[in-house]
Amino acid sequence: MSGVRKTIAVLPGDGIGPEVTHAAVQILEDCAKSFEHKFEFHELAFGGAAIERYGSPLPAETLAGCRSADAILLGAIGGPPWDGLALDERPEAGLLGLRKALGLYINLRPIRVRPALSGISPLRRERINDCDFEIIRELSGDIYFGAHELIGEGSGARARDVAEYSAPEIERVARYAFERAAGRNRRVASVDKANVLATSALWRQTVTRIAREYPEVTLEHLYVDNAAMQLLLRPAQFDVILTGNLFGDILSDEAAALAGSIGLIPSFSRGRDGQPALYEPIHGSAPSLAGKDVACPLGAIFSAVLLLRESFGLEIEAQWIEAAVDRVLDHGFRTIDIAETGGRVLRSSEFTEHIRAELHDALVHSERYGWGV
Ligand code: IPM
Ligand code: MG
Repeated sequence: MSGVRKTIAVLPGDGIGPEVTHAAVQILEDCAKSFEHKFEFHELAFGGAAIERYGSPLPAETLAGCRSADAILLGAIGGPPWDGLALDERPEAGLLGLRKALGLYINLRPIRVRPALSGISPLRRERINDCDFEIIRELSGDIYFGAHELIGEGSGARARDVAEYSAPEIERVARYAFERAAGRNRRVASVDKANVLATSALWRQTVTRIAREYPEVTLEHLYVDNAAMQLLLRPAQFDVILTGNLFGDILSDEAAALAGSIGLIPSFSRGRDGQPALYEPIHGSAPSLAGKDVACPLGAIFSAVLLLRESFGLEIEAQWIEAAVDRVLDHGFRTIDIAETGGRVLRSSEFTEHIRAELHDALVHSERYGWGV
């Protein structure tokens, strides 16, 4: 097969964002070289770094560069220098603005335990083994995008945040979740707080209605408090978890911790077919780790894997990278956040070099690994 030509917008962002995206770009470059693809990387200012350079967390040029790319790779944003800013000026406002502007209404976070890492989960091995599910979080509505008001000061102050959903906003993300489940184990667990919230009552009605279009998929509803508990008690029961923007934000951090470290989990955000999707590790900018060469690059590297698989349809390449990472983990190499007794803790850049060496090795000895390249 002849190679593909693609443009990737790279938004390194803040804190450990630049380090981890650098690692992911190196892996993508190795991929392009080894499989005769042509990937063009366009680095763009975003988040706090863009506030410093351009006075805005989402400069017009960055948005334009994202729109014209085939896919977007993002590091992380935010940090103490910008914590004092008003909500609509912060780095986070840039991320929300980008999600809105690109129509990214689906966010998917796969929770899968790498076999070599089942020992670092806070859950006992027998609970965490066989855990393989996807959280599908609605990403462009809910309380995130309603009015936010903070009025007055001191004990006279009041604040309000408006949560809003329309039926079509719920329908489109629900359809995606059912389609995704249809290609997996055919179970959707929809999470809401329909015993208290009107947005959740609409959520439950709408998801139930859309479920009729997918008779092969089983739907169950869970209240969010119960879902948080079930994730700890029996995470292996889940196949696809479908939920709104706020609950998805919270449950996905909980689920990531179950998989061993939030540093391991990638995500993608997408809108309609044909529009560029955005790939990012779900961890934050971790300012205390920045510049020390200790941050785990795996969340970003697995985001690159998702990018190859979901946006470019390059399944062989995706598997080539996943297998190389698993071999590095099998050899006992770790970054500090996923360290285990008996393992060898490496600097982040060394860890990435080991993965690159494994990638190379798999090509040189392709007969041993079974890669047809
Ligand atoms: C996430 C993050 C963001 C969110 C922040 C940085 C605005 O926590 O992607 O999960 O809340 O959506
Ligand atoms: Mg979050």
